[in-house]
Amino acid sequence: MNTSEVAIRAIRAGGELALSYFNNREQLTIDCKGPQDYVSEADRAVEAKIVEILADAFPNDGFLGEEGAVSRAPREWVIDPIDGTTNFVRGLPYFCSTLALVEDDVLVAGWIFDPIHNNLYAAARGQGATLNGQPLRSAWRARFSEGLVGICHSSKLTAGELSGRINAALEAGAIMRQPGAGALILCDLAQGRLDAVFDQHLKPWDALAGLLIAKEAGAVVSDYLASPNWRTEPQPTLAAGPEIYQEMLEVWPETRDVTLLETDR
Ligand code: IPD
Ligand code: CA
Ligand code: CA
Repeated sequence: MNTSEVAIRAIRAGGELALSYFNNREQLTIDCKGPQDYVSEADRAVEAKIVEILADAFPNDGFLGEEGAVSRAPREWVIDPIDGTTNFVRGLPYFCSTLALVEDDVLVAGWIFDPIHNNLYAAARGQGATLNGQPLRSAWRARFSEGLVGICHSSKLTAGELSGRINAALEAGAIMRQPGAGALILCDLAQGRLDAVFDQHLKPWDALAGLLIAKEAGAVVSDYLASPNWRTEPQPTLAAGPEIYQEMLEVWPETRDVTLLETDR
């Protein structure tokens, strides 16, 4: 099996395990990391499953996983076993498993599996994005006044920051969506279902795979790895259709400093 085949095996196995826990979630052990910040035995078991498959195939590779997998190597797998844990524990069917491959600090590939819809998103740098093996190339609304704008929520974001951002978008005429799983929001953007997304608190495991999938589907996206501190400090996550991006710079001036990802495509 080549790298992509192993990655798909791992992310599907992880997502399917997450779904089996979701379908029996009344038996789930849930811990609280902080106010409204949950982690369940499912998060840990899914990460262990994904790491087991990857480490078996690629024993020299490194890992960066939300639930604790950490080892450095030139080739590194970045994992969020369940993105959308709050949805997951409350029974809302909007969550996914994500996996990104970083080589020498370059984002080379990403995979996201949504087990509820059996949707597998994949992208390789400069080689396009796919949804269930079919090429993904999208179109977006050009203006906030006709757009759907996705937002995230983090305990690090103050109420003032969040409401300021929402107000500015609403005043520009947008409709807002806050579905609760950053990686899956980026997949919705990649498909042209959402037109603009911006958040400053997503972690690398939330953001990397979805950013590459959106970029390879034709969107403008941020270069999460532009800062050498990307492993330890959240970096801006921005994705938008190329036209609405120009208006985003006016609506949310804080996006003007964001470095964009360039690939060869
Ligand atoms: C969270 C989700 C959420 C985002 C948070 C993330 P988790 O990840 O992606 O949409 O707003 O910042 O922490 O905890 O469900 O893996
Ligand atoms: Ca996450
Ligand atoms: Ca998670």
